[in-house]
Amino acid sequence: MTTYLVLKFVHIMGAAVLLGTGVGIAFFMLMAHLSGNTAVIAGVARIVVIADFIFTATAVVLQPLTGTLLANMVGYPILDGWIGLSIILYILTGAFWLPVVWMQMRMRDLAAAALQTGSPLPRDYHRLFWTWFAFGFPAFASVLGIFWLMTAKPPVSLW
Ligand code: HEM
Repeated sequence: MTTYLVLKFVHIMGAAVLLGTGVGIAFFMLMAHLSGNTAVIAGVARIVVIADFIFTATAVVLQPLTGTLLANMVGYPILDGWIGLSIILYILTGAFWLPVVWMQMRMRDLAAAALQTGSPLPRDYHRLFWTWFAFGFPAFASVLGIFWLMTAKPPVSLW
């Protein structure tokens, strides 16, 4: 029982870190962009990339591990039902999150280069920013969907 509760606690902390870091990063990046200040954008993008590597990446790895252990302990099937559907949404989230990490690194580098040369932010930066912005919506919706499935545990049949 104690192992189960510790695992569940770590799992829920992981979920909080995933959602919290995601929303926080989106907010700070958007605010930095709207400031129009190249130095602010370069600085925030640099910190955001570090935060994603420390917090999001750790939670991304831990979440399926703790989740699978929990499911095994309780006896839930992994590849069917609400867990199976959550895993599909989790893969979908990852498919949007991985390019986002790369885009943040590119935006960081472009802003730093513009700052150094005193030139305006290049067209590439703006294109990346709006793609990054658009990718956030499906990723966020999928994570909310997972939260709902994990909480409500609805009777879903996949196959
Ligand atoms: C990717 C593989 C995942 C698996 C296999 C998995 C599995 C599980 C299982 C079996 C439980 C139920 C524990 C119980 O009530 O006995 C659970 C609960 C929970 N999971 Fe996941 N999970 C995964 C990912 C996620 C993700 C990505 C999130 C959110 C970002 C999440 C959020 C939650 C929350 C909030 C609960 C607590 C629900 C409650 O106690 O009613 N899980 N998970």
